Amino acid sequence: MHETYDRDIIKLVQPARVASAINPRLGIVGGGQLAKMTALAGLQLGCDVVVLERNNYSPAANLASHSLVGDWDNPEALMKLASQVDVVTLENEFVDAASLRALEDAGYRLYPTARSIALVQDKFVQKQTLAAAGLPVPRFEAVANLAEIEQAAAKLGWPLLLKARRNAYDGKGNATVRSPADAAAAWKKLGGDTGRELFAEEFCDFTTELAVMVTRGSDGASVSYSVVETVQHDHVCHVVKAPAPVPTDVAAQAAEVAQRAVVAVGAVGSFGVEMFLTRAGGIVVNELAPRVHNSGHYTIEACLCSQFENHVRAVLGWPLGSTAMVAPAAVMVNLLGTAKATGHPHGLERALAVPGAHVHIYGKAMSGAGRKMGHVTALGATLNEALATARRAASLIQFGKPQP
Ligand SMILES: Nc1ncnc2c1ncn2[C@@H]1O[C@H](COP(=O)(O)OP(=O)(O)O)[C@@H](O)[C@H]1O
Ligand SMILES: [Mg+2]
Repeated sequence: MHETYDRDIIKLVQPARVASAINPRLGIVGGGQLAKMTALAGLQLGCDVVVLERNNYSPAANLASHSLVGDWDNPEALMKLASQVDVVTLENEFVDAASLRALEDAGYRLYPTARSIALVQDKFVQKQTLAAAGLPVPRFEAVANLAEIEQAAAKLGWPLLLKARRNAYDGKGNATVRSPADAAAAWKKLGGDTGRELFAEEFCDFTTELAVMVTRGSDGASVSYSVVETVQHDHVCHVVKAPAPVPTDVAAQAAEVAQRAVVAVGAVGSFGVEMFLTRAGGIVVNELAPRVHNSGHYTIEACLCSQFENHVRAVLGWPLGSTAMVAPAAVMVNLLGTAKATGHPHGLERALAVPGAHVHIYGKAMSGAGRKMGHVTALGATLNEALATARRAASLIQFGKPQP
């Protein structure tokens, strides 16, 4: 079946292909879909790619010259990766910044830098950093114990968001606390009772979530992509609309804030900036991602140079490409798993028959509820046209065993 087949490929292919000494060698910490799409962009530019992942099988492993199996936080595994490549980059922000600093201290090239990762990977430190740079962020408070939630609420009001400082994604580190009665359950749900560090944030009354991808070179040169709207349900991104259907002055403000935010953390590479457009019409930064980002997947088909290619260019010190869109509108719809099942994309052929739908299947062995399994992008003369095409194709795909 699918899983066995892929494992066989790894065994057959790995020993035969070894990173060359001629091509630029890109090392990626993590082997998920972001690494896979980065690797594809790197391969197009003649790079060899080496992946470090915890498991033998990962979406990016099939593309890599070879992959190393090891923990991201294992300094030895990171050193081994660094010693085999020209530059190390990351597909997530969960790698311990101290281990990353050790790579830099040993003379290896790492982008984004350990300093950037340290400023971003702890959401509390990140908000402090952005606030210190004069950027608009939601009000936030440290909470060291359960009792301090009520103290925070005295300043932030109810409801508030309780958030994990680290290792959170797809809303898994967030809980909305509506009243004092909710506090204990939220504290426990996020692991506060077992020592996980949390903080409180004001609940933002936003009308729209916006995001901007910015790619910055080590020389400080940078390019920005369109301001997009991201549509989240249950804290998970479902749809991205490019450009965001907001007035020009709002888009200009979001673009400027995003640019300043990545400078504040010394970004090198593609960074995602998530923002809220508040009911009052202001922009506040929700969070940064020190990496390529789901809100920029549309750039593969919709822009002259994708967020992935520009990331590769930036970390290798190459000139950055144009972020101009090639169509008036583009929409990306995520393909999310609905239950624990195999990663088989049932209905793929029907989706491929939808004219104009660009289907991406990440090739994960297993699906799960809310798990990002792929996405569909469509271009159009209008957002509605692109949305209809992308939705139609996406609705035809389900993950799991093929139906009889
Ligand atoms: N302060 C807030 N007020 C209202 N909604 C929020 C707030 N913070 C986060 N959210 C909602 O939860 C989603 C995920 O939160 P985020 O902090 O971006 O976590 P993650 O790291 O999981 O992406 C956001 O995209 C937004 O929809
Ligand atoms: Mg987020």
